[in-house]
Amino acid sequence: MKTSVIKANNLCKSFVTGKTALNVIKNLNLDIYEGDFTVIMGSSGSGKSTLLYTLSGMDSATSGTVQLLDNEITSMKEEELSFIRKKDISFVFQSINLLPDITVFENIAYCGYGVNKNKKDINEKTLKLLETFGLTEAKDKYPSEISGGMQQRVAMARAIITSPEILFGDEPTGALNSTAGEEVLDILTDLNNKGQTVVMVTHDLKAASRASRLIYLKDGRIDGELSLGKFSKEDYKNRDILIFEFLKERGW
Ligand SMILES: Nc1ncnc2c1ncn2[C@@H]1O[C@H](COP(=O)(O)OP(=O)(O)OP(=O)(O)O)[C@@H](O)[C@H]1O
Ligand SMILES: [Mg+2]
Repeated sequence: MKTSVIKANNLCKSFVTGKTALNVIKNLNLDIYEGDFTVIMGSSGSGKSTLLYTLSGMDSATSGTVQLLDNEITSMKEEELSFIRKKDISFVFQSINLLPDITVFENIAYCGYGVNKNKKDINEKTLKLLETFGLTEAKDKYPSEISGGMQQRVAMARAIITSPEILFGDEPTGALNSTAGEEVLDILTDLNNKGQTVVMVTHDLKAASRASRLIYLKDGRIDGELSLGKFSKEDYKNRDILIFEFLKERGW
């Protein structure tokens, strides 16, 4: 039996502008399971980012509930919620947002100091991550001095330095060329193989191929899911056919 790490019940999210309300997420019920690489797809405007932000407590729900790990976040106070956001979850975005005035090393380590006061531990862990992600030589550089692909790898290291229970990604490969995107996907796949729970939104079929579970969102509702099992490079052709058929049936 899989453990649910996120449970959304009758989740609704609307945006009110002036006198009109736009209902984006509509009575959605969903469990996200520990150890899965869950990928959310759907056409532009279907509510993927909104869903990711409401599931992770980055944005509040309009109605319904979200259970994140052991917390019912929809009724939580902002301070408690910000503690969970800092300690238990991490995000990588399409826009990479590294701090421009500090080095690669500092971008990663400073995030770690926020949850673990043992600086020596964090410094060692940062060096290890830099090595694993092929960034050792970039350690003392500033973000503007390295490529977009390297920047996104720094952002991944920064995201996992806190050992989050859940790693969220909103189109993390969206701004990268295909080689750099593939490197980021390989990192995510490795992390997932070591037990990291990943929830990622993407438009990219190559990124979707890394999913163990694919969810299709249509107009704020779940319009089907596909269980794929763990990714393996040998099997990618079969996975791509399954994914392509699944998406085609849904008008993607
Ligand atoms: N803060 C906001 N205020 C008002 N409307 C919003 C806000 N955020 C999103 N929306 C609207 O909600 C709908 C869903 O947006 P969302 O960004 O979740 O879609 P998406 O599936 O992530 O799209 P994309 O693939 O283009 O990133 C869109 O119509 C969008 O304009
Ligand atoms: Mg989006």
